[in-house]
Amino acid sequence: MKRLAGKSALITGAARGIGRAFAEAYVREGARVAIADIDIARARETAAEIGDAAIAVEMDVTRQESIDAAVAKTVDMLGRIDILINNAALFTASPIAEIRRKDYQRVFDINVGGTLFTLQAVARHMIERGGGGRIINMASQAGRRGEPLVAVYCATKAAVISLTQSAGLNLIEHGINVNAISPGVVDGEHWDGVDAFFAKYEHKAPGQKKKEVGDSVPFGRMGKAEDLTGMAVFLASDEADYIVSQTYNVDGGQWMS
Ligand SMILES: NC(=O)c1ccc[n+]([C@@H]2O[C@H](COP(=O)([O-])OP(=O)(O)OC[C@H]3O[C@@H](n4cnc5c(N)ncnc54)[C@H](O)[C@@H]3O)[C@@H](O)[C@H]2O)c1
Repeated sequence: MKRLAGKSALITGAARGIGRAFAEAYVREGARVAIADIDIARARETAAEIGDAAIAVEMDVTRQESIDAAVAKTVDMLGRIDILINNAALFTASPIAEIRRKDYQRVFDINVGGTLFTLQAVARHMIERGGGGRIINMASQAGRRGEPLVAVYCATKAAVISLTQSAGLNLIEHGINVNAISPGVVDGEHWDGVDAFFAKYEHKAPGQKKKEVGDSVPFGRMGKAEDLTGMAVFLASDEADYIVSQTYNVDGGQWMS
């Protein structure tokens, strides 16, 4: 028996990277998925490549009307939402002295506001249809401790861990389990961008930071998006019924808590 048979999932930022890997894993486990992304062209390509069990939904998690429209479209096309993964996020880095208010605002709007208000919209839907559901937020090892050049992104991910705790405690009375996954360093387009930031601020050659972080992971390499899918399936499955408000590290041993 497939572990997510008959379930419908909305995954934000699923056009590429980790969100896409989650969508593929959920479909393999029998779910139907909405690939929700601000990059609708890429979301459509991804959904087409995944097949009939996937639909593309345009969504900007910083705009309330876009969140509401994406939730309504997903319910309309898939019938209901059983699982939400709040995966869309933006990375930024700079020394404290160079942080610009507009970058701070943008990254908080996506990573924290986007997580909170998408969670709220989907929780309202879940409560209206009688309760029950799973919400998984994407945190990060960056939310476990600060980093000298990554103050804003680290603060957003600490906020995601905190929101997961509060929302989980509030929503479990409706049978909605809220938990989070905390990856370490996962190779892909996101980390291509991170590498470029460090090339600029630490004067490293392109690719050097990636190599350094990969070598420092106790497991012995950077993560791959597929390394995270087991936890995402588990937290959405019936086996995770009694798990509330937790953030799980899936990071090759980078962080222990
Ligand atoms: N890659 C890593 O090393 C790593 C480590 C820890 C945590 N994470 C977290 O995992 C999640 C996925 O990371 P990834 O590496 O796949 O990132 P990614 O940058 O490859 O993908 C992010 C996706 O979000 C979409 N997006 C951006 N802004 C949006 C908006 N306003 N509304 C809707 N969609 C938007 C992008 O178009 C993109 O498809 C993120 O929450 C990230 O912070 C990643």
